[in-house]
Amino acid sequence: MFWRYRGDPSMWAWLLHRLTGIGIFVFLLIHVVDTSLILWSRELYDKMVELYHQPFFKIGEILLFGAVLFHGLNGLRVVVLDFAPQTTVYQRQMLAGVAIAFFLLFIPVAVIMFGQMMQGAEKHLGFELNPKSWQMWLTVLLASVAIFSVYAPTMSAPKLKVSIKPSGGLELYGWLFIRVSGVLLIFLAIGHLVIMHLIDGGVNRINSDFVAQRLANPIWRTYDFLLLTLAITHGTWGMRTVLMDYFHKPISRLIVLSLLYVVAGIVTVLGALTLFTFQP
Ligand code: HEM
Ligand code: HEM
Repeated sequence: MFWRYRGDPSMWAWLLHRLTGIGIFVFLLIHVVDTSLILWSRELYDKMVELYHQPFFKIGEILLFGAVLFHGLNGLRVVVLDFAPQTTVYQRQMLAGVAIAFFLLFIPVAVIMFGQMMQGAEKHLGFELNPKSWQMWLTVLLASVAIFSVYAPTMSAPKLKVSIKPSGGLELYGWLFIRVSGVLLIFLAIGHLVIMHLIDGGVNRINSDFVAQRLANPIWRTYDFLLLTLAITHGTWGMRTVLMDYFHKPISRLIVLSLLYVVAGIVTVLGALTLFTFQP
């Protein structure tokens, strides 16, 4: 049970890093499939985006931003500790730094996103959004239950693991890759979220015309392609570590890891097809 580890902040950071990594990976798979709807029909894509404009999903988007931000900042702390072991004496200060940087960045962004949610929400809801309306609180409650139910199953059996550098072979390349790709993803993934949420009215402006306009520009196609390949490969290698912690028998490992690689491969191909065959 996870409360067995209470008291050690770096243990909590490790657990949260794992949970956010799994959450972002699952979101990414769904997100790439969602985006590919535009290949079949722009109307279908617009209907799907309309669903995301509901306040229920927008609360999830605020949490997703928090997850990417925490995972990125904490990942950077892990990278610094791994490549500059002499900084280990500052462990506690670095953890405090991650927490402070997280709240300094997250709170203003969450306030902006919440404001956009309120602006866009009333036209989608059919009831007035004010703190006295019971429907609003019911929506918030349902969103919280839905989000918790996604995370709850992953909370049951973590084990304490210290990041140990492998001595060679594929494991060493994977270990190095997850660190290098993590640092690049700070710019790519957080940049993508800033573009989608903080510029020009945020997500309320997203629809198939917006995507068509962006994908007409080869710079954004290349940016999205880099984000797609790095995030899926980083996430898949990370999920491999997580799954190997919970599945020990060779046959069960073979099944879950094959499933992981097949799903990741299909989603990458679908994402690349969207980016390079969509005619704006
Ligand atoms: C935003 C920039 C990111 C950084 C700096 C980063 C950094 C890292 C680092 C350093 C690790 C290894 C942790 C360890 O060995 O203890 C890791 C693990 C992981 N990352 Fe990321 N990452 C980022 C983005 C992402 C994204 C976008 C995804 C999902 C697509 C993701 C999914 C994972 C998963 C599932 C793990 C395995 C967690 C575990 O072993 O407990 N990461 N990340
Ligand atoms: C809720 C927050 C997000 C919104 C509103 C959003 C929005 C979008 C939109 C509108 C596109 C279409 C292409 C474009 O305009 O560039 C897109 C594509 C993409 N997004 Fe996001 N995004 C979000 C979060 C994320 C996160 C957290 C990641 C990475 C971990 C991500 C990775 C991608 C990738 C890889 C593509 C290209 C998909 C493809 O290959 O078809 N997005 N996103």
